[in-house]
Amino acid sequence: MILPQFKKISFKSYKPGKSQLSRIKNITKLSANESALGSSSKVRKIVNSKINLSKYPDNKSTKLRLEISKKFRCEFEQIICGAGSDEIIQIICQLFLKPKDEVIVPQYSFLMYRIYSKIAGANVLFAKENNHKISVSEIVKKISKKTKIIFLANPNNPTGTYLKKNEILELRKKLRNNILLVVDDAYDEYMRKKDYTSGLKLFKKSKNVIILRTFSKIYGLAALRVGWGYGPKKFIFQK
Ligand SMILES: Cc1ncc(COP(=O)(O)O)c(C=O)c1O
Repeated sequence: MILPQFKKISFKSYKPGKSQLSRIKNITKLSANESALGSSSKVRKIVNSKINLSKYPDNKSTKLRLEISKKFRCEFEQIICGAGSDEIIQIICQLFLKPKDEVIVPQYSFLMYRIYSKIAGANVLFAKENNHKISVSEIVKKISKKTKIIFLANPNNPTGTYLKKNEILELRKKLRNNILLVVDDAYDEYMRKKDYTSGLKLFKKSKNVIILRTFSKIYGLAALRVGWGYGPKKFIFQK
């Protein structure tokens, strides 16, 4: 009997940290960067009273995108919402990558970049870090004719280090225009450093950068699976 065939891909699956320990109640799992403070009671009220669980939601997330565009002073048509920013990473890989393309990620970086890139058939190259900090020159060393996407989180997970505003601008300058830079702002709200600027602020008008944002971290809403991306209208806009 011939059974359905599937693509064999070699990667280590994503292993989330343990959520339960047999002898300890109310543990805070640090490995997933979930909020230790929980979610706001205002959100819980709305989720309990206003969300109609039996209906499909608006697949264009119109109201949410409108609110995001007001709060972050950015263009409605350049916002895409997803089931967590995880889904946006997946969509980017599906949309931009074909087999044998190359993707560069920092040596220590959020695992979903490499997982979705590999599922799309791309080769993933790892750029060394200096003292657990992303290195612009090590990323640049890895660039070849086949490079399609560079993914990085700023500040980075799992290292907690960050690239300064001038370093990330320098990186974009050193890349060919047809290389997509994905700047994941998942932890932007936790930054207080003067020499740091969010990807969204730096690249709002860029034609070859996509920014990722999530409601999971600062709003403590990981279970709702809400994330968004911001990029050129050409990539994002849905009629
Ligand atoms: C850097 C980074 N990006 C994206 C995500 C995924 O977030 P979401 O819950 O929006 O899928 C995480 C989650 O840990 C993360 O650390």
